[in-house]
Amino acid sequence: MKGFKDHINLIENYIEELLKGLNGNPVYDPVKYFLKLPSKRVRPLLTIISSSLYNNDNEYSLPAAISNEIFHNFTLVHDDIMDSSLIRRGKDTVHVKWNLNQAILSGDIMQILAYKCLESYDSETQKKLIEAFNDTAIKVCEGQQLDIEFESQNNLKFDDYIQMINYKTAVLLASSLKMGGIINNASETDLKSLYQIGLNMGCAFQIQDDYLDLFGDQNIIGKKIGGDIIKNKKTVMYHLHKENSSIEDSNILDEIYNDSNIQNDKKVSNIRSLFEENEIDLKTRQLVKKYTTKTDEYINGLNIDTSKKKYLIDISNKLLSRDF
Ligand code: IPE
Ligand code: IPE
Ligand code: MG
Ligand code: MG
Ligand code: MG
Repeated sequence: MKGFKDHINLIENYIEELLKGLNGNPVYDPVKYFLKLPSKRVRPLLTIISSSLYNNDNEYSLPAAISNEIFHNFTLVHDDIMDSSLIRRGKDTVHVKWNLNQAILSGDIMQILAYKCLESYDSETQKKLIEAFNDTAIKVCEGQQLDIEFESQNNLKFDDYIQMINYKTAVLLASSLKMGGIINNASETDLKSLYQIGLNMGCAFQIQDDYLDLFGDQNIIGKKIGGDIIKNKKTVMYHLHKENSSIEDSNILDEIYNDSNIQNDKKVSNIRSLFEENEIDLKTRQLVKKYTTKTDEYINGLNIDTSKKKYLIDISNKLLSRDF
């Protein structure tokens, strides 16, 4: 991510060193493959930046930062199995390149490696980090379960969607920020604010992810366009369409979503047209902006130096303007 080059270099070097130590069993092959694919590294960046609000030693926050990144990568490997995704970061997904069992196992290993990264902190800090980590990990699984259940449900509310994305995505951005505070003994008030910032940023991020899944460029996002529609995902666009269209249009949307005979390409293009006719693409971008503005308000409310707030505002706005 531009503007954070030094931080990204630290992250990449740390990951590279860690991977060098993983040898002697083929289970590590997918771990190495996946962690080396190009990623935005949003979560470790958040940990390093939140730690830098208290402490200039970026090396100190690296193990916690990388723990969040490896956990994130574990969730992606398993997510690609659950979503039947064939392409990730522009390359074959792990279950395609290897097989289902190796994807499950290498994901498991990544989750354990994520815990291991936390061993480098003193026991009191470690205890707080693990508490935050576990709370997040459980919520992510709950969110993923909701995401899957919603595929076959039609009577969902917008709040159900927000709850689902809070859990599957936002809590990890929230705890990535909070962990940067924890390792520096930040006050409870600060930890709560950092978490709140991450939740709003995470919602903006997932809404943007939904948008890009249909309106993005495959060469840039590295995923197959329309994958959510093919899997009947109840994305933000689905909900915004329900809220903003006539009953007639809303029924058409459900009909296409539930049609098991329609060709995938046709399904995607028909739904895309329906969304465009109702300006759902525009409304989605406005919603991302709304969550980003809320994020920036929380950042401005933090009791820290204005110059330091700038880093957080910067990253929040970079995520907003991302087309990747
Ligand atoms: C993808 O995360 C999964 C979501 C929660 C939206 P990223 O878009 O951060 O994926 P990488 O790490 O940059 O590939
Ligand atoms: C992913 O959500 C959330 C987690 C991995 C926990 P998505 O399924 O929307 O992510 P992408 O689009 O595959 O990256
Ligand atoms: Mg998914
Ligand atoms: Mg997915
Ligand atoms: Mg997605």
